[in-house]
Amino acid sequence: DWTPASFIESTVAELKKQLGDDKVILALSGGVDSSVTAVLLNKAIGKNLTCIFVDHGLLRKNEFEKVMDDYEHLGLNVIGVNAKEKFYRELHGVTDPEQKRKIIGKGFIDVFDEEAKKLKDIKWLGQGTIYPDVIESLSITGTVIKSHHNVGGLPDTMKLKLVEPLRLLFKDEVRRVGNELGMMPNLIKRHPFPGPGLGIRVLGEITPEKIEILQNADDIYISLMREWGLYDKIWQAGSILLPVRSVGVMGDERTYDYTIALRAVTSTDAMTADWAQLPYDFLAKVSNEIINKVKGVNRVVYDISSKPPATIEWE
Ligand code: XMP
Repeated sequence: DWTPASFIESTVAELKKQLGDDKVILALSGGVDSSVTAVLLNKAIGKNLTCIFVDHGLLRKNEFEKVMDDYEHLGLNVIGVNAKEKFYRELHGVTDPEQKRKIIGKGFIDVFDEEAKKLKDIKWLGQGTIYPDVIESLSITGTVIKSHHNVGGLPDTMKLKLVEPLRLLFKDEVRRVGNELGMMPNLIKRHPFPGPGLGIRVLGEITPEKIEILQNADDIYISLMREWGLYDKIWQAGSILLPVRSVGVMGDERTYDYTIALRAVTSTDAMTADWAQLPYDFLAKVSNEIINKVKGVNRVVYDISSKPPATIEWE
């Protein structure tokens, strides 16, 4: 019978056997999958695991610092890299979503490669690939809807062997394993978050100013969602900064500011998703807080589209 405890026991034993005294490098994203992978590898090989966590400047507000803290508490050997400037520079003027994904994906590999080169004798690349990633990357539909870079994003200059201990697990099993490993709820209950991050939630051109507006609005939304006890009932929530401005009024002044769209969906695997029927009084509170506190925003809307035909992300 599959239990988180038996999975951990057999996986750690297999990893020890497979890896021996070899060194492993792993990219952490702040998400459940890579975090659980890191803790399993750490249990098996300890300091022979080096983790790299890249700040591409497209994370949620204060997320990099919070997650680095969690990783250090877990005893992981982790190198944090601030690469914000590089990503902002390379994304300057780019509006096409697939182009943004390519730039961000390649940027990750560049930064990761550079860090890896500083380390010696690395033989393996650890990855938090889970079963749905494997399936999705195998299904050939002929058209790329959105190119996810969870799978296949290997730096090809590095001839490393792959170690993917979660390859046969579903998300809920990964969460149960994380729980059994004693990991903090902040890491294991967290909503899925796309690799390109807020880069695909600022629609159209990305600027550091727009990212900051979105971070501030999103922080209000997600914090209130936790306060109201709604966070764990939702598969994924986030905010989107729309590339249009509209007229509003503040005191005697006319404003001409941005619109924030709020998104929240229920789902089990992200392949299909329903828009979440959040309480009106919650939405009213979030809207008030955002409009009163986030400069540059004068309108908040709620996305009531399900997948299909809409997608979870807007880009
Ligand atoms: P969509 O928008 O296709 O999203 O309904 C389905 C799930 O995938 C996530 N997503 C991504 N994850 N890189 C990622 O790592 C990406 O480029 C990407 N695009 C979408 C999305 O957040 C949702 O969980």
